[in-house]
Amino acid sequence: MKIVCILGSPREEGNSAKIAARLCDAAEAKGVSVTKYFLNKLKYIGCQSCMACKDKSEICVIKDDLTEVLSEVKSADVVVLASPIFFGDVSGQMKCFIDRTYSYLTLDYKSRLAPGKKVVMILSQGDADKKHFADVFCRYNEFFKWNGFNESHLIRAFYDNEKKSTPLDEPYRQAEEIAAKLMK
Ligand SMILES: Cc1cc2nc3c(=O)[nH]c(=O)nc-3n(C[C@H](O)[C@H](O)[C@H](O)COP(=O)(O)O)c2cc1C
Repeated sequence: MKIVCILGSPREEGNSAKIAARLCDAAEAKGVSVTKYFLNKLKYIGCQSCMACKDKSEICVIKDDLTEVLSEVKSADVVVLASPIFFGDVSGQMKCFIDRTYSYLTLDYKSRLAPGKKVVMILSQGDADKKHFADVFCRYNEFFKWNGFNESHLIRAFYDNEKKSTPLDEPYRQAEEIAAKLMK
């Protein structure tokens, strides 16, 4: 089994990255191959809407650091997408990556990805109210399903106003539980 983990926070030791690490470490301990990409360290641009992936090429024609990431996702069994919530959505780093996955769709919007992949979305937010930004996963999950992902999981972390920190015990527990489930 192969996991590709894409980290969208500029904070390498941030909450979303720590939760993703917990999941990946649990999987690696069981012999699973894990490839991690810290998007903030990569040089890339967003989708140019050139449509070359619809009529000229099977892959995104932009050659930059996302070329490898987009290719690795194709051979992954599980994709982990970890991001902070920035202005009610994933980070810009993550959004630019997601836009480039437009290249996974053919001219008639069929997915070029092999069906049956699994996705884990990890979202960390500064707002303690769980109802806020609950839409983010739901919106992206529709696109994951479109691309043939048949199992999706969500882990969220919230700031605690009284503790003045983001408790990670529960997200860590979920990460380990999901890792065990993915490896079954
Ligand atoms: C530019 C920016 C925008 C943010 N926007 C939101 C927001 O809309 N809602 C929210 O709950 N938190 C927001 N936050 C707080 C982060 O989501 C929060 O600190 C998160 O836990 C960071 O995750 P990380 O540790 O993985 O980087 C924002 C932070 C920054 C820097």
